[in-house]
Amino acid sequence: MACAHLAAGDSSDTITGVTRPDKDRPASLGFATQAVHAGNAVDAGSGAIRTPIVMANSYALPDDPEELFWSGFDVPLYTRNTGANQRALQQKLALLEQGEDAVVLATGVAALHGVFFTFLRTGDHAVVSDVTYEASYRLFAEILPQRYDVQATFVDTSDPDAVRAAMRPTTKLVHTEVIANPTTRVCDVAAVAEIAHAGGALLSVDSTFTPPPLYRPLADGADLVVHSLTKVINGHGDAMGGVVVGAHELVDAIRAEAMVDVGGVVSPFNAWLISRGAITLPLRLRQHVSSAQRVAEFLADHPAVAYVTYPGLPDHPQHALAQRQFGGRGGWMMAFALDGDAALQNRFVADLRVITSAVSLGHDESLVVHVGTTAARAAYWPAEFRRYGHLRFSVGLEDPDDLIADLAAALDTVGALRCRQP
Ligand SMILES: Cc1ncc(COP(=O)(O)O)c(C=O)c1O
Repeated sequence: MACAHLAAGDSSDTITGVTRPDKDRPASLGFATQAVHAGNAVDAGSGAIRTPIVMANSYALPDDPEELFWSGFDVPLYTRNTGANQRALQQKLALLEQGEDAVVLATGVAALHGVFFTFLRTGDHAVVSDVTYEASYRLFAEILPQRYDVQATFVDTSDPDAVRAAMRPTTKLVHTEVIANPTTRVCDVAAVAEIAHAGGALLSVDSTFTPPPLYRPLADGADLVVHSLTKVINGHGDAMGGVVVGAHELVDAIRAEAMVDVGGVVSPFNAWLISRGAITLPLRLRQHVSSAQRVAEFLADHPAVAYVTYPGLPDHPQHALAQRQFGGRGGWMMAFALDGDAALQNRFVADLRVITSAVSLGHDESLVVHVGTTAARAAYWPAEFRRYGHLRFSVGLEDPDDLIADLAAALDTVGALRCRQP
């Protein structure tokens, strides 16, 4: 029988009529397959099946460079404008987030800076979540108003009415975290997008705590999605990076300013590491989320624990929204505190043997950080955070039984100490 030969790129079998997945057309693939193949290509020079690390500042110019736009980024020219590893990572992340385009930058904060400084001008106003990562707060509370006369109103973005009431004719941007750091407050992105757009503003969301496939804010109307790639998308705690995903026109504006003119470019090596880390994102995320749910339930039942805030627990204020928005998954970040003072919280952390005390989050190893009650933003945190402080807890990939045993042993020790106190 004669063989039917398919044209390159044709994914339908002309004999059976069955459509095959095709890694050269990654949009046709499932999420895990995309995470593996998107942004990776056979290297033309070596034949290697993995995109290599291209540690070069500069790329070969055409014979006649006269026509080149020296600050352009469409062809590799100079690594601050674009490079092979940035491009590979951008392709992967745009696809995973289902956005038109992505720009990768040196850190998550560089990505946030890229959004705020590209789209806000002197005299503009922004509506900003009153609970965010510290640098976002400082940019809006100090740097933007004091140096550039960009004013911000800080509101509870889990309350659409508060967002609506804060809008002004000069509001050009609404910015929130999807799950807020550190309180885990959840924002209804679709509701806030509608309000932002009705007021002629863009909605940018920091989705670092909710990477795809947990959630895709663009589908709910967000215009720009920011991630600190330093966190769970890379997942191994060994590289820093940030990304903004959105419509081509918006992303290009950030690329031209924050990357080419301000220079917040990610290194090729970090871009390569993050591309490699992102391959296992769906697998890792599944484990992070299921372990976090178990750990949160354990902590919530423990008598020495004053409070646990985790979107997967029924007593979380936005539990129903989290269930709907994240398909029944509560994420992997939580905050809790013991019923005691700062010394007790510190003693508890010191007693942990598997869980590491360090900042950052989304690494393979579980990380805990004790944050007291004196942070500049603490006034915006719930009463229990202000009373006890909080332990921000990023649940890692260790066996959940080991995590629970580690927590239980440290809780027993501090519990015994409390009993001995007069
Ligand atoms: C929600 C969130 N956004 C942004 C950042 C900043 O990321 P980076 O440290 O990569 O600049 C962090 C860092 O912890 C974060 O938690």
